[in-house]
Amino acid sequence: MTSKTKGKFWDHGRLERNVSLLGIASLIVVAIGGIVEIAPLFWIDNTIEKVDGMRPYTPLELAGRNIYIREGCYNCHSQMIRPFRDETERYGHYSLAAESMYDHPFQWGSKRTGPDLARVGGKYSDEWHVQHLKDPRAVVPESIMPGYAFLAERELKPGDMSRDLTALSNVGVPYSKDDIASANDDLKAQADPDADAKDLIKRYPKAQARDFDGDPGKLTEMDALVAYLQMLGTLVDVESARPQEVDR
Ligand code: HEC
Repeated sequence: MTSKTKGKFWDHGRLERNVSLLGIASLIVVAIGGIVEIAPLFWIDNTIEKVDGMRPYTPLELAGRNIYIREGCYNCHSQMIRPFRDETERYGHYSLAAESMYDHPFQWGSKRTGPDLARVGGKYSDEWHVQHLKDPRAVVPESIMPGYAFLAERELKPGDMSRDLTALSNVGVPYSKDDIASANDDLKAQADPDADAKDLIKRYPKAQARDFDGDPGKLTEMDALVAYLQMLGTLVDVESARPQEVDR
C-alpha cells in the first residue's frame, strides 16, 4: 500500500476493516457479475441448441418413461453422459441439451448405483432387457439391481394417453393435433406386430414398432419400459449432429 492511496475511499485496508463498506462493495461486485450472467437470458428465446432427429416421445415410449419414473429407476441410474473422457469412452458421445429437451421432468439423475442409461438403446436385445428386468442376476451375476418381474405380468393400463400428450404440449412439447387424437391407437400399434405402424413411424421418425416383451398376445408394462429403453440415445445422430440456428 503506498502512502498515496492510504486513507482514500479505494484503500483496500479501509475497505476490509469497515464491515458496512465491505458489504456494500461486495454487493456491487456480485450484482455486476449477476447482471452479466443473467440479463442475456431475458433476450434469448432458447438456450438449447436444436439438433436433427430429436422428436417427442411416442405414447408407448412415454408410458414406459412413466413406469421408469414410477419405479424410481432414476434413483440408481443417470441419463446424462458428461463430457469427460472416462464417461465418453464408457457410454458414448456426451449428452446434448437437446436430447432431454422433451423430458418433463428431466431424468439426468444425481446417483449412479448402476450405469448411465442415456445411450442404452440398441446396446442389448429386447430379450436381454426382459431377462435382466425380470431377474438381473440371471444375466449379470454380480448385479445388485432389484428384479421387476411383475412388469411382464401387468397389463399396460396407462389411462388416456391423449391427456399425457396434451399436458406435455402445454409445456412446449410439439405434439400435433393428430398425435394427440391418435395417442391411444399409437400406443397399441407400436407394440402390436400385426398392426400397421407406418403412420406412427411417419409422425415419429425412428420409432421402433414390434412386440418388445416376447409375449405378442399381451400389451404389458414390460413392453412399454423396454420400448422406452430401446429408444434412449437413438434419436439424434450425435456424431454428425450439427447444431442448427436457434429460431428467434
Ligand atoms: C438399487 C439400484 C437400482 C435400481 C433401483 C435400478 N437399477 Fe438398473 N442397474 C443397477 C445396477 C447396479 C446395474 C449394473 C448391473 C446390471 O447390469 O444389472 C444396473 C443395470 C441396468 C441396465 C443395464 C445397463 C448397461 O448399460 O449395462 C439397465 C438397462 C437397467 N439397469 C435398467 C433399470 C430400470 C429400467 C430400472 C427401473 C425399473 C432400474 N434399472 C432400477 C441398479 C439399479
